[in-house]
Amino acid sequence: MNIVLLGSPGVGKGTYAEKISKIYSIPQISTGDIFREAIKNETKVGLEAKSYMDKGELVPDEVTIKIVKERLEKDDCKNGFMLDGFPRTIAQADALSEISKIDKVLSFVADDEIIIDRLSGRRVCSECGRIFHVKNIPPKIEGICDICEGKLIQREDDKPESIKKRLDVYKKQTAPLIDYYKEKNILAEIDASKPIEKVDEIISDVRKALEE
Ligand code: AP5
Repeated sequence: MNIVLLGSPGVGKGTYAEKISKIYSIPQISTGDIFREAIKNETKVGLEAKSYMDKGELVPDEVTIKIVKERLEKDDCKNGFMLDGFPRTIAQADALSEISKIDKVLSFVADDEIIIDRLSGRRVCSECGRIFHVKNIPPKIEGICDICEGKLIQREDDKPESIKKRLDVYKKQTAPLIDYYKEKNILAEIDASKPIEKVDEIISDVRKALEE
């Protein structure tokens, strides 16, 4: 099964993707994670991506489409994949339709107020990438990852100025994909406003949408 996760920054795509990936045994492909890894390794793509990401802007389509195409050619995608954060523009969606057939697009929805709270409280492990939240999903020891004991950090683009820009960019450039996929009859809307204690309900809604 080939799945796309669509939704505003901070709606919880990465959090749900980890669970969906385990249930369906398909790789989670996050363009944000690929770029952050490239930045860490100081590659050419990483250096280019950083200048856009820190400002909350999208990395240019040609760069992003190329890395996704290369990633989807890998063996672990033969039995399905889940794209988290791609496509984010109509041009990317058109390019994806030439690369692979998409079975379902899950559109996660929550109000801006909830999104801003989730983004401003998010902390991620600098070693393994595990996602936490200072109130909603706190680590057992403040500032330390429960899994690998790595240091928890705040993403540069989770600072207030970048959050506002990212939400604007989402509304202008990415939200039009909702109608784009509705027209193709492959979009399922998932209520992601439920609190983290009800994450199992969110995942159960995802399973219903994928198995209907
Ligand atoms: P990317 O890394 O994809 O960021 P994003 O889409 O902005 O999404 P986030 O990672 O911010 O949020 P999420 O929805 O995964 O939420 P999470 O699970 O962490 O992209 C970063 C940048 O890379 C972009 O701005 C762009 O520059 C570039 N880029 C990436 N892809 C690109 C593309 N295709 N084209 C061009 N540029 C691209 O959850 C958020 C917080 O909420 C966490 O703290 C979590 O613990 C908490 N939480 C989650 N669910 C719940 C819940 N139900 N209740 C309470 N708390 C919750």
